[in-house]
Amino acid sequence: MPGLVQETPFKTITVNELHPTFAAEVTGVNFQDVSEEQFAEIVAAMAKYGVCVFRNTGMDDAAHVRFSARFGELDNIRRYLIGGRKPRYDLYELFDAGNIDGDTDTILDPASARAHSNRGNGLFHADSSFNPRRASFSLLRACALPPPGHGGNTDFADSRTAFDELPGDLRERLLAHDYVGAHSMAHSRKLGSPEFFADVDPTTASPMQRHRVAQRHEPSGRMNLYVGAHLHHIEEDGKEISDSWELVQRLNAHATQKKYTTTVPWYSPSDMVIWDNRCVLHRAGGGTFEGKFRRDLRRTTVHDDSPTAWGCNSKDVVWQGFNSQAKSKHAGAVGV
Ligand code: OGA
Ligand code: MN
Repeated sequence: MPGLVQETPFKTITVNELHPTFAAEVTGVNFQDVSEEQFAEIVAAMAKYGVCVFRNTGMDDAAHVRFSARFGELDNIRRYLIGGRKPRYDLYELFDAGNIDGDTDTILDPASARAHSNRGNGLFHADSSFNPRRASFSLLRACALPPPGHGGNTDFADSRTAFDELPGDLRERLLAHDYVGAHSMAHSRKLGSPEFFADVDPTTASPMQRHRVAQRHEPSGRMNLYVGAHLHHIEEDGKEISDSWELVQRLNAHATQKKYTTTVPWYSPSDMVIWDNRCVLHRAGGGTFEGKFRRDLRRTTVHDDSPTAWGCNSKDVVWQGFNSQAKSKHAGAVGV
């Protein structure tokens, strides 16, 4: 394991840093019984590191959802159950991040709509940035993993340090302008699999949701670059700026440079990784397991409760899902 054991002020957990600026593996947690004191230390570690890795938690679906709910109100998958799509689990708070076809319990056909949609997860992104109320924490837990050597890691990028180290001109520009990012799930699906989703038009698929590009991460007080693959364009005063796409690409390329990233391998079922979408980006790392070995990962997603949770969006808007299982020419269409 890379990184060095650091002296921490923590009393009930031990933190092993995974990268010079963010991410840590945390030991000393008994997930059968996490005290208030220990939970507060986990929250503090999350504020500092943005990504915390916990090995062999021993948690099942129910324990995962119960533990997640301690972080705040949980999102659920109901709005994605459109076009006849059935839930895979009894618990609606669990999002399926794996490669299993729920109907047949076999590995997803790489040619299937869902496999094409999942390709978008291979691009660095912040979960739920396309929602009116964005997400704070994602808690991803392994249920079944490919054999070692076949990939399937999850990669992370430190978007706070990326903000701190923006080239001077870009930093000045972001601080001088009130730039708002318009986010769309259809956009990232299309980026991930352009041919399959050729007919999807992100500008009409569903209303985009808006969050500021540069904003302060409340738990740490540090600035963050809130970008990623769902970011479709950038606006100022309600209008798209003239070099929007160029800026989107420049910011994403800057934030995901190798020096800002770390990769987290999954070792055993019940390993869990928690990340804070308000200060890191993440992606599915891919590998030779694809189409061959089961990789069953399940995620809970916590609604942000910080002052910037709703960004520039109305709290009255109806939340919409993107139905990757619909025929591509209809995918993402409202009400499909
Ligand atoms: C997610 C996600 C990455 C992975 O669950 O939100 O992007 O490695 N997962 O599966
Ligand atoms: Mn994700």
